[in-house]
Amino acid sequence: MKLAVSILSSNYSELETINRINETKADYIHVDVMDGKFVSEKTKEYEYLYKSKKKLNVHLMVSSPFNYISKYSVLNTDAIIIPVEIEDDIASLIEYIHSRGLKAGLALNPDTSVNAIEPYLKKLEVVLIMTVNPGKGGQKMLDSTLYKIDLLDKMRKEKKYKYKIVVDGGVNDKTIGKVKNADIVVSGSFICKSEDYNEQISKLNL
Ligand code: DX5
Ligand code: ZN
Repeated sequence: MKLAVSILSSNYSELETINRINETKADYIHVDVMDGKFVSEKTKEYEYLYKSKKKLNVHLMVSSPFNYISKYSVLNTDAIIIPVEIEDDIASLIEYIHSRGLKAGLALNPDTSVNAIEPYLKKLEVVLIMTVNPGKGGQKMLDSTLYKIDLLDKMRKEKKYKYKIVVDGGVNDKTIGKVKNADIVVSGSFICKSEDYNEQISKLNL
């Protein structure tokens, strides 16, 4: 299982948070972007993403992703993930992400069923299961979302799809056992709101 560290809620500045993550075994930095429309919160501009030694997974929680895709398809970005619940044409956005040479992902809100992403699954490299409602860090994992992990894994095996399954929200040393069938876990406040990032990561027993 791989680890992506979300820098959304941290005790440190953006630069220090990134520098600290650079010194860990984490596989990715998970960059949450919110526009104040898709979710009520709005993230400030990130300034130091170029300092990351880890590849970036950009998680767009925005209602019109197009412009954000070009903005974030620079640097060390590995994947861009957009929400399935928006009105824009999802298939074209996936194509656009691919045209920038990046992996494309769709995110699924807790109340959205897996059916909603089914038409796109064969084109995706990433499916992100929101295990909290999008908008802020430090929330409690919603157990009602967890069935999606095994369901998406079963569908992937049956249809020979290639997407990786990511879980995002409320991952800590107490909840990690519930999501062990995911390929990548996102963990934010559990790591970034501590003094010792390496110690917290070792508690996840990945
Ligand atoms: C929630 C974000 C998550 C969140 C994870 O809207 O998409 O990535 O920051 O943070 P924790 O691990 O604190 O739930
Ligand atoms: Zn996220």
